[in-house]
Amino acid sequence: MKTIIIVGGSKGIGKAIAQKLLPNHNIINISRSFPDFSHNNFVHHQCDVLKDELPQIDTADGLVYCPGSINLKPIARLSMDDFREDFEINVLGAVKSIQRYLDILKKGNQSSIVLFSTVAAKLGMPFHASVATSKSGVEGLVKSLGAELAPTLRINAIAPTVTDTDLASKLLRNEKMIENITERHPLKKYLKPEEVADMAEFLLSDKASSISGQVFELDCGIVTFKI
Ligand SMILES: NC(=O)c1ccc[n+]([C@@H]2O[C@H](COP(=O)([O-])OP(=O)(O)OC[C@H]3O[C@@H](n4cnc5c(N)ncnc54)[C@H](OP(=O)(O)O)[C@@H]3O)[C@@H](O)[C@H]2O)c1
Repeated sequence: MKTIIIVGGSKGIGKAIAQKLLPNHNIINISRSFPDFSHNNFVHHQCDVLKDELPQIDTADGLVYCPGSINLKPIARLSMDDFREDFEINVLGAVKSIQRYLDILKKGNQSSIVLFSTVAAKLGMPFHASVATSKSGVEGLVKSLGAELAPTLRINAIAPTVTDTDLASKLLRNEKMIENITERHPLKKYLKPEEVADMAEFLLSDKASSISGQVFELDCGIVTFKI
């Protein structure tokens, strides 16, 4: 049974990944709050990835880094601190996690790393300057580390469109906004966290053993199609 470290498995997409994998994986969760679920295969470490030392873990076959941000403002209102904070949680937290667990991942069973980008790294959208900049950094990291860590470790990213989690709750806070978001996507839907978890499960599995350095758009058509 593989052991997967999830940074941010307490909520949102990370929680959906944990719950999908739990029946046949050991899951080690790292987050600030305690998850609202438990399981015999589940261990939780309370930790702020930016402020605290990451816990000692002895073996792992996968790492998923979920913390991220959706900080949407016009450029005139984005401060240098906004850019720094977005870069820290999206990029530097992932770098810190990878560096901390690199040695055990290299010793793991066909280990794989999954990071998160966003559709806004490919599709120019107003008010996304800070998050698009940070997530483009995540995509650069995936390319560079994919090459550097081959053939020992695979690394990929998932770039979702709007997904129904706490992080996106401001975008989905009433029926009108839900309708607008749904209509903007050519597939006339947005994502459930479980759909994103399906892709993460695949990328972590040996079925994806030929795939590294890739960014997978789960875009409901919004980046791919102009209809
Ligand atoms: N939701 C969307 O619409 C959407 C769209 C595009 C991309 N994404 C990306 O997908 C990823 C997952 O998004 P999500 O919607 O699932 O986010 P979320 O609902 O905010 O969940 C984030 C998870 O990370 C943990 N976390 C946050 N800051 C942390 C810290 N400093 N230290 C440790 N753990 C921390 C949170 O737990 P605690 O609060 O307990 O620490 C939580 O478990 C993010 O990278 C996001 O940018 C999301």
